[in-house]
Amino acid sequence: MRRVMSVAIVMILFVGLAYAGDGHELLEKIMKDYHKGKTSLVQKAVKGEASKEEIAKLSEAYHQMAKMKPPVGGQADWDKRVAALIAATDQLAAGTPGAGGALKKAVNCKACHKEHKPD
Ligand code: HEC
Repeated sequence: MRRVMSVAIVMILFVGLAYAGDGHELLEKIMKDYHKGKTSLVQKAVKGEASKEEIAKLSEAYHQMAKMKPPVGGQADWDKRVAALIAATDQLAAGTPGAGGALKKAVNCKACHKEHKPD
């Protein structure tokens, strides 16, 4: 039993470290895994086709983004954009009508890239 516990603890540490590591790499990963392409998870969520698990994953990614400094641009603007993403995924998770539209508005690729994506 103790062995199982310590393995579990090591695994938790590992996952924690992977997330706490280089925010830049994690951010690129989030973009690739959840945003990139017409059939991305976020597009599915906007259309109301994402499962509860998928919405939870998206929300977790946005909570990770909330702990980051943007690569470029102001922190206040970043925080506002990420807060809107979190609010929209919360609404989706709660099944609030119009949540997909709120997410669509919040996940404005161009606007955020213009402010915060390095060239
Ligand atoms: C809240 C801000 C924000 C929003 C919204 C956002 N992005 Fe990004 N995205 C970034 C930042 C910042 C980077 C630069 C990451 C880096 O280089 O560290 C980036 C980088 C990327 C990359 C390049 C990843 C790589 O491998 O370098 C892709 C692809 C991308 N975004 C797709 C999208 C798409 C598609 C959307 C809209 C559906 C979107 N993003 C919405 C902030 C955002």
